Amino acid sequence: MSERAKALEAISLSKDFRLGRGQVLHAVRDVSFNLYRGAVVALVGESGSGKSTAARLLAGQERLTSGTIRLDGEPVSVSTRRAFRRYKSSVQYVFQDPFASLNPIHTVRYHLERPVRLHQRPGGSGGMASPQKRTDVSQQLDTLMEQVRLTPARQFLAKYPHELSGGQRQRVSFARALAARPSVLLADEPVSMLDVSIRLEMLALLDDLRKRLRIAMLYITHDIASARYFADEVLVMYAGQIVERGPAEEVTQQPRHPYTQLLIASAPDPDNLGKRSQPPRKSEEAATVGCPFSPRCPLADDRCRRENPALTTLSQTRAAACWHLEKTGGGTSASS
Ligand SMILES: Nc1ncnc2c1ncn2[C@@H]1O[C@H](COP(=O)(O)OP(=O)(O)OP(=O)(O)O)[C@@H](O)[C@H]1O
Ligand SMILES: [Mg+2]
Repeated sequence: MSERAKALEAISLSKDFRLGRGQVLHAVRDVSFNLYRGAVVALVGESGSGKSTAARLLAGQERLTSGTIRLDGEPVSVSTRRAFRRYKSSVQYVFQDPFASLNPIHTVRYHLERPVRLHQRPGGSGGMASPQKRTDVSQQLDTLMEQVRLTPARQFLAKYPHELSGGQRQRVSFARALAARPSVLLADEPVSMLDVSIRLEMLALLDDLRKRLRIAMLYITHDIASARYFADEVLVMYAGQIVERGPAEEVTQQPRHPYTQLLIASAPDPDNLGKRSQPPRKSEEAATVGCPFSPRCPLADDRCRRENPALTTLSQTRAAACWHLEKTGGGTSASS
């Protein structure tokens, strides 16, 4: 990526859920990152680590407890319906389960036509569609179907969700998101419900879309191996916090946080099969005092159980939150 055009900025996002009896769950804690046009950031972590909550905050579906979101440099306002609609057309969220997000009684055409009309922007500037522009709708549907490689378009547009395979349904979900001509796509575990055999094909499609349409993408996954091949940057999340971040290649080849090291060791990566260890558990066992990973960490000492380490800069592009970075490999020296 030669020039990096910032699309979306997440600045110190936090989300607390009140659980009753005065209990508060810090689902997302002080999370910051940028999404750039044409680039993929992977948000990786176990079940319950806060990935979807972070995405829902970015999608405007969940209210921030604190923090700021900027789109194209402007602080996001979703206070009016109009502002929210404008924001939502730029920032689209694709769910894990394409079956749940498609209505079984409607055809593919129905699912795509509405967003195409809603977001139709003659000349790309927004506004009402003229009758003449309306004839473009079918052309736009054809384009969308081609973009997600569901061809011949006419044939697929007439189908109902149950007539499609899981992969084809997910392609329809992508097409629906693209109908809004978004600059940002939040893809929440987009391939985890699909057969292993078609996951790579689907990631290749997403890769193609982000390059061709210069979409800024957040790719949420619990599979760090897929992040390695697909993402430019990896953010590792544990108990609501980013515990390690950096270029995908570096984070996956030389992980510095003990949690990232555990994820890599237990990832179903062909390069790592020999080293496969225990599957990761849910982050529910996170400590509420000190480093959240301390109950599971082989390096944990008293300090780890007392104080939560901040993200420490390792280089211009890398950071990790651990008190024992000097022990976790690499020749890189830590400096705050
Ligand atoms: N509306 C809510 N009310 C209360 N707690 C919630 C709510 N939504 C999420 N949580 C809790 O917040 C934490 C983070 O949930 P989240 O769904 O963001 O995790 P995740 O990383 O997406 O997990 P998964 O991989 O299972 O999808 C979990 O402990 C979850 O139970
Ligand atoms: Mg989730």
